[in-house]
Amino acid sequence: MTLGVDEIPLARPVLGEAEEAAVVAVLRSGQLSLGPCVPAFEEAFAARLGVAHACAVSSGTAGLHLALRAAGVTDGDEVVTSPFSFVASANAVVFERARPVFADIDARTLNLDPAAAAAAVTERTTAVLPVHIFGYPADLPAFERLGLPIVEDACEALGAVHGDGVAVGARGHSAAFGFYANKQLTTGEGGMVTTGDAAVKARIDSERNQGRAPDMGWLDHDRLGFNYRLSDIASAIGLAQLGRLDAMLAGRARAAALYRAALADIEGLGLPCEDAGGDRRGWFVFVVQLPRDTDRDETIRALRALGIQSKPYLPAIHLMTYYREVFGHRPGEFPVCEDVAARSVALPFFPELREGQVARVAAALREVLGR
Ligand SMILES: Cc1ncc(COP(=O)(O)O)c(C=O)c1O
Repeated sequence: MTLGVDEIPLARPVLGEAEEAAVVAVLRSGQLSLGPCVPAFEEAFAARLGVAHACAVSSGTAGLHLALRAAGVTDGDEVVTSPFSFVASANAVVFERARPVFADIDARTLNLDPAAAAAAVTERTTAVLPVHIFGYPADLPAFERLGLPIVEDACEALGAVHGDGVAVGARGHSAAFGFYANKQLTTGEGGMVTTGDAAVKARIDSERNQGRAPDMGWLDHDRLGFNYRLSDIASAIGLAQLGRLDAMLAGRARAAALYRAALADIEGLGLPCEDAGGDRRGWFVFVVQLPRDTDRDETIRALRALGIQSKPYLPAIHLMTYYREVFGHRPGEFPVCEDVAARSVALPFFPELREGQVARVAAALREVLGR
């Protein structure tokens, strides 16, 4: 999308000399893939989170797919998950010919509701896949009490921390992070699976590389695998981004605080929930819920006319054409999710968003909503 002169974009990565130098060093080394930057990025990422292992992969989706395989999810199994997520979290279940079984979300956190998830468990359930939506920690202790394998979708949650002080992704389950360009940390495209289990690390490392075991020779493979590798170029960018992660997270938190103050008095507008119970959000997007009597598409068009990008975020997965057609879903199944999904709008949000830009967005929203 081309930007007008004064247009405020939805997202903008922070990239600078460190990333440039890192890429140039890899190009000069001649080793563009399967080189030293991949384990270096994995080790630094794992150390940052306080988890034993990390496996770099080509996307968050690839990470979810390999993590589900490592959890043993296969043909005909059921995986309980959230319908309020990016479609990849459910798609990864379908990749393995298993069925995503949706359960409704908690109206405050917008994460999978543990009670609804428990009610959706059957004898075919092989895993639970909570999503830390918009960077807010899902209630992992509650899901852990279900006693089932857990795969976490942490694609939006780098920097988030659970109430007990453990970083999101560091509880020992497999957790997939995503590094697409709008994320807290980006490698353009990319992802990382964290895990506390050395056997899971070995399996994912093999399956991301066509099923090759570490001690096997070139072009010898002992299992089915994929090409889900992250290149050295991308890993070098990731390492440079890790060096500025604290500053980038602080920039997002600052922008969120500015929005909260600027939007607080718009009647009927829902804001992202505040941190509670010691849980800390890793800020990713700033999503508001429009008042119930508002035409969302018209609001987005009107904001655009005022030079402000925004988008509906997120649509309910079960109501997407593919999920309706293949799994027979219909409106009304998950009322909390459907209400939230129909009213959600993501506003411009990135670490370097300036106070004046936040004020412009707030004034435009007030004008468009007539409040
Ligand atoms: C919640 C969630 N899950 C999965 C993904 C997939 O990540 P990727 O785009 O890196 O494959 C994303 C990223 O957009 C996401 O936001």
